[in-house]
Amino acid sequence: MNDDRGNLSVIACDSGKSLAERIMHELQRIAKKEKEYIKHELKETKEITFPDGEIKVELKENVRGDDIYVVQCIYDPCSKNTVNDNIMALLTACHACSQSDADHITAVVPQFPYSRQERRKTREAISAKLIADMLESAGVQRVITLDIHAEAIQGFFNRAKLEDLHASTVIIENFRKMIKFDPAKLVVTGPDVGSAEKARHYSKKLGTDLAIVDKARDYSDTGKIESMRLVGKVKGKDVLIVDDMIATGGTLLNAAKLLRRKGAEKIYVAISLPFFTGNCVKNINNAHKTGLIEMVIGTDAVFHGDKFISKTPWYREVSIAPLFAHVIYNINKKRSVSELLK
Ligand code: R5P
Repeated sequence: MNDDRGNLSVIACDSGKSLAERIMHELQRIAKKEKEYIKHELKETKEITFPDGEIKVELKENVRGDDIYVVQCIYDPCSKNTVNDNIMALLTACHACSQSDADHITAVVPQFPYSRQERRKTREAISAKLIADMLESAGVQRVITLDIHAEAIQGFFNRAKLEDLHASTVIIENFRKMIKFDPAKLVVTGPDVGSAEKARHYSKKLGTDLAIVDKARDYSDTGKIESMRLVGKVKGKDVLIVDDMIATGGTLLNAAKLLRRKGAEKIYVAISLPFFTGNCVKNINNAHKTGLIEMVIGTDAVFHGDKFISKTPWYREVSIAPLFAHVIYNINKKRSVSELLK
């Protein structure tokens, strides 16, 4: 019997290329340690956009029998592609692998698309379920993602397995290096009740107190934030706000303002998926200048490019590529994944 799942190969859609290259680099390091051989490069693919906007990904190498990992970053601030373009590119890449007889197909999507549309609140679709169905139809047998917005999405797949990795270990490790903090002076908080579990996890690991912001949205008005209340004490303390994502930054900045009104001193932020959409960067720039936000730590699951990082004094990027590489390696070797997630 084989002791692995066959030839490990990695391909990327255009928006997943830079993350895939970092994952590949880490895979090389792991393989070298284990005295194993993994091909250095991503397998060659070509992403084509037709004049009418249709997209397809072609495989330029044989993948027959491979244990293949298809990397895509759905929201890519460095590309003109929309989220929907990138979903389509991912689906065509996975289907191409299935049509070309790959044995195992894993979609590596740190940002699970439409994860905030996972239940109905009015007459609307459960779009996260549609995404799960489309991935399965494209031949995907496993999905690896990061801090999925709603864990219930695991159950939206009929056959495929979902591996939900957590950015907290790498963020905490880097936070400890960046900030010399006294656990008695730091409070961890989530900017809404949905992030309470994450905040509890960070506070346990860092040995700090916990506070929660209770945010209510008005869904009759495009989800505008209606009210925010604080449960817990932050007076005279520094605060670390943790969340799965920042989009427009509305949730974060409202929470930060509330925390400051309640007496919080320095405010740090840790985010798994730093989308920074709309006026988010401009608003955080202002919040940093006025001393409201000290620092935002985000992961390269949303890659903003080296230029952004060098000109944004409040932003620190940490890489989730080593974690993804270890998980991919262990899946290929039929080893435990959960021991990497402790
Ligand atoms: C909400 O439940 C999420 O965890 C985020 O807090 C939210 O989606 C962020 O969106 P925005 O930055 O636009 O407020």
